This record gives sequence, C-alpha cells and structure tokens, in this order.
Amino acid sequence: MTSTVTGTAAGRLPDFPWDSLAGARAKAARHPGGVVDLSIGTPVDDTPELLATALAGAGNAPGYPTALGTAELRTAAAGWLQRRLGVRLADPLDATPSVVPTVGSKELVALLPTMLGLRGAGTVLIPEVAYPTYEVGAVLAGLGVRRTDTPPDDAAGVVLVWLNSPGNPHGRVLTDDELRAWVAWGRAHGVPVVADECYATLGWDVEPRSILHPEVAGADHGGLLAVHSLSKQSTAAGYRAGLLSGDPALVRQVWEVRRHLGLLVPTPVQSAMAAALADDAHVDEQRERYRARRARLAAAVRAAGARIDHSEAGLYLWVTRDEDCWTTIDWLADLGVVAAPGSFYGPAGGRHVRMALTATDERISAAVERLAG
Ligand SMILES: Cc1ncc(COP(=O)(O)O)c(C=O)c1O
Repeated sequence: MTSTVTGTAAGRLPDFPWDSLAGARAKAARHPGGVVDLSIGTPVDDTPELLATALAGAGNAPGYPTALGTAELRTAAAGWLQRRLGVRLADPLDATPSVVPTVGSKELVALLPTMLGLRGAGTVLIPEVAYPTYEVGAVLAGLGVRRTDTPPDDAAGVVLVWLNSPGNPHGRVLTDDELRAWVAWGRAHGVPVVADECYATLGWDVEPRSILHPEVAGADHGGLLAVHSLSKQSTAAGYRAGLLSGDPALVRQVWEVRRHLGLLVPTPVQSAMAAALADDAHVDEQRERYRARRARLAAAVRAAGARIDHSEAGLYLWVTRDEDCWTTIDWLADLGVVAAPGSFYGPAGGRHVRMALTATDERISAAVERLAG
C-alpha cells in the first residue's frame, strides 16, 4: 500500500531558483578557458590546520553532544565577540545562556521563527533585497513576510525583524543610526530584532557594527539576537558551525527547543569552533586573500563598464549595467563567467547581479582577463 503526502511543507516554500541558471552555466562552460563560477558563495581555500587539529583531537566522542555548547566553546565565543566586535555578553556560563552553537547559521535562520514559538499568525520583516532563508523560515512557520529597509509606521502583526549587515547579496553595512532605529522600534513594539552578522569580519570600506554593541544596544541585550558563522571567516562551511547570542531570555527559549529537536553541533566540531574563535591570525589571513581578490575583480568589472553598488563589506560585488539582471547574466556567460541574478534576492534586486569572491586566485585571474576583453 502506498500513502500520499499532500500539502507538504516543501510545497509552501519559495522556488529554489538556482535551476534557472542552467542555461547561463551551460553557455559559460563552453568558454575554452573553462567556467568561472562566481554564482555561489562557497569557500574554496583550505580550512586552516588549527581547526582540523582540534577536530581530530576531539574525535573520541561516545556521548551525545551538548545543545548548550561546551563551556570551552561558550567561553571562546564570548571572548571572540568581545575582542572582535566589542560586544559584552551576559555570562555565557549562566544557567540561562547568552550564547549557543548552531549547526551552521542557515538552519537557525530557517527555524528561528518556529523555535521562538511564532507559528501561525503574523508577519516577519526582512530586508528589501535579502538572503532567501529569512522568507523560508517565515513560510515554514506559517507567517507572512514584508520587505522593508526601514522601521514601518505600522507595527500591527509584526512578530520578528531580520536585519543583515553586512548584507547578502549587496554588501551594505547598516549605520549605527539605522541599527539604533531598529532596536528602538523593536523594543517599543515588543518585537525581537535579529541581526544576521555572518560577514561581520569582512568589512572593507566600512567597519561593520554588531547590533549587540553597547553603542547600539545600550546597557543590555533585551529583545536582541545576533547570528554569526564560522563558514566564511574560518573557511569551514563544511563543519557547519554557527552561533546565536544576545538576550539570554530569547537564547534560552531557542536552546530549549533545540534540545528537543536534536539540533546538536557534533562535539568534535564544537572543539574546532572553540579553537577557531580563540585565534585571530587565520581569520586575518583569509580576509587578506578576499581583499586581494576583491580589489582585482572590482577593478576589472569597472573597467568593463559596469558599476558596483554598496559592496563596502562582505563576500560579494553587487554589480549593475543598469539593465535587467538576466541581460547582465548573459553578457557574463558569454565571457565564461557565472554570477547570481539579483532577482533571486527580491524584486528590488532585478537590475543587479551578485559576483562572489569565493573563487581561487587562478579563477579570479581568468575572470579579470576575460572582462578586459
Ligand atoms: C546572509 C547569510 N546568512 C546565513 C548564511 C548561512 O551560512 P552558514 O549556514 O554557512 O553559517 C549565509 C550563507 O551564505 C548568508 O549569506
């Protein structure tokens, strides 16, 4: 006997649009020098040795991992937030924690509305042009989505706010005033404000500010959460290593649900995270690699007549030729280069493409040469 599942969660989710790039990909692949794929932001450089060593050193892991995070990891995370972002967490070792590890940040983004118990009614505010998973998380929880870059006059029905600074896809950094306006709005209306800061260590023209910084949040983190990731800063996307920190009451709520769901970061990965968060040298080294690639690619894009908007931080160039993004995708595909159409990130992105800096020096050189014609 077979059974049919109807009304599946997947059916309610937004389209996964990457398949629509197949034509551009095929065209780019015909370039004699091979394709330069800048469409997806997946790191390509080697994971630093210190992570692999810590991972292997914790390989004897017969018991279940802790959802809360080991004391070593929570202490390292609080130290990293203080050292790199000027954030002073409430005691990370308190029974009500101010930070917990996540299995990369994507699952957290997708599940946060559900884990905060926001199911069923209400609206999640997300940026005008945004990483698609904010919408996925809202839809999964049966919530609506509204795109806005400024706090709305009407707060009716709003249950959660997502900010993303530095932003994917456009690399825009929110100013202190913008962040403060959202914090004040969230607190005035009793709506949690969550900042996805997974590119926090990649500021180029501007130093990104955390929403948890005392200049923004004030004396405590009430109503605020921040999301961080080791995927890019430690070249460890394959480890699945992220952090949720901020208001202990909210972090606790999320942690308690995570225990029930079995959303546990494997113990060896927790060990690697602790080692990575205690070390700045590897982050700075990787950052310099991205800085050099960005400088070369940006110069070539501009010399080829395109414009780069925002992109003051993060891992992407937000490129436009003041035309529909698919026309730009086509122009690049003729050069053997694949980028991501801005329309993937919301209607306001329809005249830009996103070019990732996550390619080898050799592939970046190939793109630079081809753009020079
Ligand atoms: C804005 C943003 N948030 C979250 C993520 C998820 O990252 P990860 O799950 O690797 O931590 C990404 C990945 O590209 C991203 O661009």
